[in-house]
Amino acid sequence: MNQPFPDVFQECIKHRSSHLCGAYPYASGEILSPLSKAISARKILEVGTGLGYSTLCLLESNPLGEIVTIDQDATHVATAKKIWEQHGYEKQITTYVEKAEDVLSRLSEQFDLIFFDGYVPQMKMLLQFEKLLRKDGILVTTNLFLRDEKGGKYLKALLDRKKWETGIFSDTAISTKLI
Ligand SMILES: C[S@@+](CC[C@H](N)C(=O)[O-])C[C@H]1O[C@@H](n2cnc3c(N)ncnc32)[C@H](O)[C@@H]1O
Ligand SMILES: [Zn+2]
Repeated sequence: MNQPFPDVFQECIKHRSSHLCGAYPYASGEILSPLSKAISARKILEVGTGLGYSTLCLLESNPLGEIVTIDQDATHVATAKKIWEQHGYEKQITTYVEKAEDVLSRLSEQFDLIFFDGYVPQMKMLLQFEKLLRKDGILVTTNLFLRDEKGGKYLKALLDRKKWETGIFSDTAISTKLI
C-alpha cells in the first residue's frame, strides 16, 4: 500500500489503544492528496480532526491549501497540533475544539473541498455542507455504513443526481456539488 505519513498513521493506532477512543486514522488517506491537488483546493473544511492524519494527507501536495478542521475532543486536537508542527504544516491549519454542528452554523465562507470523518454522517450536517461548499466543489464523506448498511438518508441525498454526482468506494462517497 502507498500510505502517506506512515509514522502518523501508526501514532494514531497507538493512541487509540491507550485512549480507548474512536480516533481511527482514515484508511484511504492516499486518495486525499491527489484529490486536493487536482482541484487546487485553497479552502478546505474537515470535520473530525482526530490526531490530524487526514489533515496532513489533504495538505501534502497542496502548499497553497488552508484547512479549517473541527473536533470536539481537546486531547486529539492538542496532539494533532504537535504532529503538524513536527511535519511543518501548522501554518496552514485553523482548529476549532467544539461540536461540529455548532461551528458549521457560524461559518460563512465557501469551501472548495469538505472532508467529513466524524463518526456517523448525519443529514443535518449534509445540509450545512451544501451551504458551505462551492458549486463544483468536492465533498468526501467517510463512515457511510457505520450505522446503516444502506447509508441512510445521508447517502440517499447524495445519490440525488440533480444536486450531486457521487461515486462510492469502501465506506467513502466522493461527491461533486452540481448546483
Ligand atoms: C475517526 S476520528 C477522525 C480521524 C482523522 N480524520 C484522521 O484521519 O486521523 C473521528 C473524530 O471525530 C470527532 N467527532 C465525532 N463527532 C464529532 C462532532 N459531532 N463534532 C466534532 N467532532 C466530532 C471525534 O472526537 C474524533 O476525534
Ligand atoms: Zn483519542
